[in-house]
Amino acid sequence: MIMKKGYFGEFGGCFVPELLMPPLNEVERAMQDILPTEAFQKELSDLLNSYAGRPTPVTFCPTLSRELGFALWLKREDLLHTGAHKINNALGQGLLAKYMGKTCLIAETGAGQHGVATAAAAARLGLACRIFMGAEDVERQATNVARMRLMRAEVVAVESGSRTLKDAINETLRYWISHQSDCHYCFGTAAGPHPFPTLVKEFQRVISKESKEQMLAATGKLPDAIVACVGGGSNAIGAFAEYLDEPSVRLVGVEAAGTGEPGCFNSAPLNLGSPGVLHGSYSMLLQNLDGQIEPSHSISAGLDYPGVGPEHSYLQKSGRVSYGLVRDSNVVAAFLRLSASEGILPALESSHALAWVFDHAEAFAQGSTVLVNLSGRGDKDLGIIQKVLNEG
Ligand SMILES: Cc1ncc(COP(=O)(O)O)c(C=O)c1O
Repeated sequence: MIMKKGYFGEFGGCFVPELLMPPLNEVERAMQDILPTEAFQKELSDLLNSYAGRPTPVTFCPTLSRELGFALWLKREDLLHTGAHKINNALGQGLLAKYMGKTCLIAETGAGQHGVATAAAAARLGLACRIFMGAEDVERQATNVARMRLMRAEVVAVESGSRTLKDAINETLRYWISHQSDCHYCFGTAAGPHPFPTLVKEFQRVISKESKEQMLAATGKLPDAIVACVGGGSNAIGAFAEYLDEPSVRLVGVEAAGTGEPGCFNSAPLNLGSPGVLHGSYSMLLQNLDGQIEPSHSISAGLDYPGVGPEHSYLQKSGRVSYGLVRDSNVVAAFLRLSASEGILPALESSHALAWVFDHAEAFAQGSTVLVNLSGRGDKDLGIIQKVLNEG
């Protein structure tokens, strides 16, 4: 199927004020002219290897595999510098910004993972850095705010709207309009206006490029299924990218159902939303009948977003990828189970993917191989886990 530029089927596009078109066009040109060059690719690959810690291994889980009756493997993005897959994209866009002659990275962050990754990339590349974060998230994620400031990023608390990620993105886009000559907006997920969904996918593709080779070398075949959590959709699209044309590989994205109580807030636009425009692209989103954005909720701040990248909306509609739902209580159980069984503390975001696998274990035949993308490490979530355990 031939796609219109920036579209995935009917989804995607670039619905932004006219004043944002020049910087977005500039990023698109850089994606076409700079990204494929040998010099850029070599410098990025050196950074990913020697600074971020790539390639990340795939790890077989012996205890859980015995219990589940099939082989469970993890792609270990949790082992990366700054603790999650976000650094792949932050280094990629940071380097691109440098080649474009920019001197400053600006970015939004919710939980702080993308903010920390962008602050690290900026410090390493000698760029200034300004991170916009909802005021409520600044209070909730004090450790990540401190980490960003230590890496000399300026953290701006956004007081508008619900004072969370959605409002931080709005504010970053607004700031970019008046600072386009020196700033690059390092968008944190595979959502937003064209070209960000495509650009972020290219920087996260490394996950599936590596895992394909690694799983073939380790097991002699491709995995039967790959499972990844979905917030905006960057770790999932990176984990799926090289398998989209491999029909034997089942691909599953997992969204956050919240508490699961009737009428509770969730972060599941693919399962529970409807199509509309948010942050410059047409995709599935949580909205009321008047088209106003509904508040989202997830126990993991990194999934707490009312929208999703447009390629996921397309992949759901085309049937290539299925998208499951997991409740907070099962997420916590999955966090505890992986920690106790294999000695690996998963991020609460990644625990959604694990929980879905545990909940659907009977769907996988004996002897099959399931690869979960472990998008981040769980140290940042210990406070939440402790609180849940204390409340019994
Ligand atoms: C560890 C981790 N996994 C997943 C996500 C969700 O983002 P995305 O859907 O873009 O991968 C986040 C977001 O902060 C994260 O920190």
